[in-house]
Amino acid sequence: MNKQGPIGIFDSGYGGLTVFKEIIKELPQYNFVYLGDNARVPYGTRSFETVYQYTWESVQALFELGCPLIVLACNTASSKALKSIQTINLPQFPDNRRVLGVIRPTTERIGEFTKSRSVGILATPGTVMSNSYKIEIKRFFPDIEVFQEACPIWVSLVENNEINSPGAEYFVKKHIDQLLAKSDKIDTILLACTHYPLLYPLIRKFTPPSIQILQQGEIVSKSLSKYLEHHPEIDHQLKKDSEILFYTTESPEVFNEKAGLFFGKEVNSTHISL
Ligand code: DGL
Repeated sequence: MNKQGPIGIFDSGYGGLTVFKEIIKELPQYNFVYLGDNARVPYGTRSFETVYQYTWESVQALFELGCPLIVLACNTASSKALKSIQTINLPQFPDNRRVLGVIRPTTERIGEFTKSRSVGILATPGTVMSNSYKIEIKRFFPDIEVFQEACPIWVSLVENNEINSPGAEYFVKKHIDQLLAKSDKIDTILLACTHYPLLYPLIRKFTPPSIQILQQGEIVSKSLSKYLEHHPEIDHQLKKDSEILFYTTESPEVFNEKAGLFFGKEVNSTHISL
């Protein structure tokens, strides 16, 4: 990859757009390609092998679109596929390409937010089962206790735009109650799935006001900006004329219609086969 290229942003569906929106605010001069694997969402209930295979196929597609740097704006892919991609796949390329995730930027800052040193994690079953948050938080902040709750239905509620339905109220309340029943010391809840910010109004409604709710978009975008400052050799490979392209593995018409809800403005996407 000798030419300059865009930053690739990947998610299993629409969720990554909640992070992408913040990244564009932080780095408006860069070119970006967003890829949503909408045809195969959700990833959160799938096996390690499947998430790794789907994620690696998507990363390869973004390489082919010329991206020297890719952000997995998906916690499930970050927890189940990132390490294998970094250690098995990337060393096979002679050039300097990079794939980053969303777990490390969040876990290295979580200590700034909690006073009680008890943190709740709301995530997909895949992210919870991988224990990535528990392991990473212990590495940075051994004094913090982590309580996790898997919310298997939440991604489907968001992908199907059921976020204001009575069903969404039921499932959001159920998992908040189950998380808070694990400890009365939790003072910070992290939305560790990029789809969950769309459920924020309901999550806020069923969470006591004394508990803060963290979203990842701003944390990840600030971390990416710092990363580029500290890695000029990567930054020099990135094109900066503010062009943004969207690709989906499903129907572009449906993507365009739904993506606005996550992204906050109209998008025009193209179909891609993996
Ligand atoms: N948005 C993804 C995440 O952050 C998960 C969605 C899915 O289950 O595919 O974990």
